[in-house]
Amino acid sequence: MTKHTVTLTDNKTGESIELDVLHPTQGPNAIDVTQLYKKTGMFTYDPGFMSTASCWSDITYLDGGKGLLEYRGYSIQQLAEQGSFMETCYLLLNGELPNQTEFDEFTHRVVHHTMLHEQIKRFYSGFRRDAHPMATMVGVVGALSAFYHEYMEIHDEKNRYETAVLLIAKMPTIAAWSYRYANGLPFVYPDNKLSYPDNFLHMMFSLPSEEYLADPRMSRALEVILITHADHEQNASTSTVRLAGSSEVNPFAAISAGIASLWGPAHGGANEAVVRMLMEIRDSEKPVQHFVDKAKDKTQSFRLMGFGHRVYKNYDPRATIIKELCHKILNESEVAEEHRDLLDIAMKLESVALEDEYFVSRKLYPNVDFYSGIIFLSMGIPLNMFTVMFAMARTIGWISHWHEMMGDDKTRIARPRQLYTGETSRDYPPMDKR
Ligand code: SDX
Repeated sequence: MTKHTVTLTDNKTGESIELDVLHPTQGPNAIDVTQLYKKTGMFTYDPGFMSTASCWSDITYLDGGKGLLEYRGYSIQQLAEQGSFMETCYLLLNGELPNQTEFDEFTHRVVHHTMLHEQIKRFYSGFRRDAHPMATMVGVVGALSAFYHEYMEIHDEKNRYETAVLLIAKMPTIAAWSYRYANGLPFVYPDNKLSYPDNFLHMMFSLPSEEYLADPRMSRALEVILITHADHEQNASTSTVRLAGSSEVNPFAAISAGIASLWGPAHGGANEAVVRMLMEIRDSEKPVQHFVDKAKDKTQSFRLMGFGHRVYKNYDPRATIIKELCHKILNESEVAEEHRDLLDIAMKLESVALEDEYFVSRKLYPNVDFYSGIIFLSMGIPLNMFTVMFAMARTIGWISHWHEMMGDDKTRIARPRQLYTGETSRDYPPMDKR
């Protein structure tokens, strides 16, 4: 079969170059430009990587036009409806869903790594009580590299796998403790008898003075949130983990870099920004249309948080799942009822925006962050913990991509170039000549 190539012609020199076209299992083909600079002395230019594939990956597939999301070929809808987060972690890391023996063995390994080195507690007390929990997460996760030296053999496949298990296990403890510290509450140790979501809720909300049992409706809702947030191809924070990891840094530092990137309101920090926006709209007593118009006004920096996506030019399939979950939680749980006003505003915002030419023409739909915060509030999770929840879920995605990258012997340090627009060469002037 003839090789598929494209020809690039420079209309100044008339010279042409033939470039291979690469074919993935699904999704757009790619022009292989790895040799372009060597052959032409020219770079490609693609800030924000709008048209750039950075790697081969078997883990997650998105189709932005169809609003499709699959982990290792399984649809997010089926995984969220039928699966557990532990199964999703096994799937993302191993490539296949576990049978019962594999599931039990994996769960046993994760459950027996949930404790933290006792000295790590002291890191928390170094932060102010009002520190944003994402600052704590960046610090404490990065500091794991000062405690778990035996998980640094990044070129050893088994050691990398163990590190992945360790991180999946410890993130809920680290996350819950950042909440407990911020609220002056005693740290609660993990309980190995509990499921992953129940254990997190236990460490977040149980008190030494009374019996705590997680509401099964909230526990199942958390499981769905964890599954839908687990991975998402080469998003900013996953690309950060891959880029940091390409320097062969230890995995804890690479994941800490991913947490830092996720924190931004353009990315995972949007879930907190959405609820702050909904509260601002509620308290302003202005109509929703006022805020939709403000989001369209280029002289304003205001955006509809939780709207739009680099890849999805259709409804984010996760937003559909989370929106339905939101309704379910609010209808079933009297506790959640107090947040119905925010859901009503969100629904109104969505309906007004999706009939507005500005949003329709730009294909701006609700994304994963638009409804998730209302569910977190219903669980009793405060605003500044929303992105921590996202980081806890996304850790499996980050570490699976890191594991995949470090297992590829063609991986090299990532080092993009630039288009230089500064001063050309000039001589150093003496002080009295400046
Ligand atoms: C996540 O990549 C991933 O997969 C991320 C994620 C994951 O799971 O890892 O899905 C998680 O980060 C979801 C996105 C969360 N962020 C937000 O909700 C913040 C609000 N949305 C945006 O700022 C924006 O939509 C982005 C950042 C999500 C996407 O930005 P792009 O692809 O760079 O698009 P853009 O900024 O170039 O916008 C294109 C146009 C612009 O208008 P014009 O220049 O064409 O006139 O759409 C406008 C933008 O001004 N626009 C918005 C808007 N989002 C885009 N206008 C108003 N409100 C918005 N929310």
